Amino acid sequence: MSYRIRTWPDKILKQKMKEVDFFDDPKLQEYINVMFEKMYELEGVGLAANQIGIPYQILVLDTNTKKYDQQEGEEGVKMVLINPKIVEKEGQIESTEGCLSFPGVQITIPRAEKVKVVAKNEKGEDIEIDADDFLAIVLQHEIDHLNGIPFINHLSPVKRRMVLEKYFKTLKETARA
Ligand code: CO
Repeated sequence: MSYRIRTWPDKILKQKMKEVDFFDDPKLQEYINVMFEKMYELEGVGLAANQIGIPYQILVLDTNTKKYDQQEGEEGVKMVLINPKIVEKEGQIESTEGCLSFPGVQITIPRAEKVKVVAKNEKGEDIEIDADDFLAIVLQHEIDHLNGIPFINHLSPVKRRMVLEKYFKTLKETARA
């Protein structure tokens, strides 16, 4: 299996991923390792499994990746979430985001300010996370991916069309260069 980064409009980015039920299989740790490797290589803050062609509900993130205004001395978090679900949302904020599957695209969209997420860890144990600020946004972005929802879906249809036109134009120009 090739673990290259999948970019829009790859169809795996539009599909809901399968739940993991093979916690005893070494394959799971292999997927997690390759996901962290790819995420760091591409300097992403988070990565959903389908972004590199793995068809399961796995996400990895590390907010230490220097892509946002981290406060001096603030500790980032690194985590693996399997079969994650957002069970509570609170508040609304405007979030400016990029995505490894949409090179060059940066958009501002509404997100919940706080989320509660339930998931499994890599051993198959239940975990629960209360997140706000940046972590809450990363979680919403990556969990959307696992459900086949790209971040552009949070734009109005008119804006989405504009963003995609520009994206495909840039893709064509890059391919020609
Ligand atoms: Co993304």
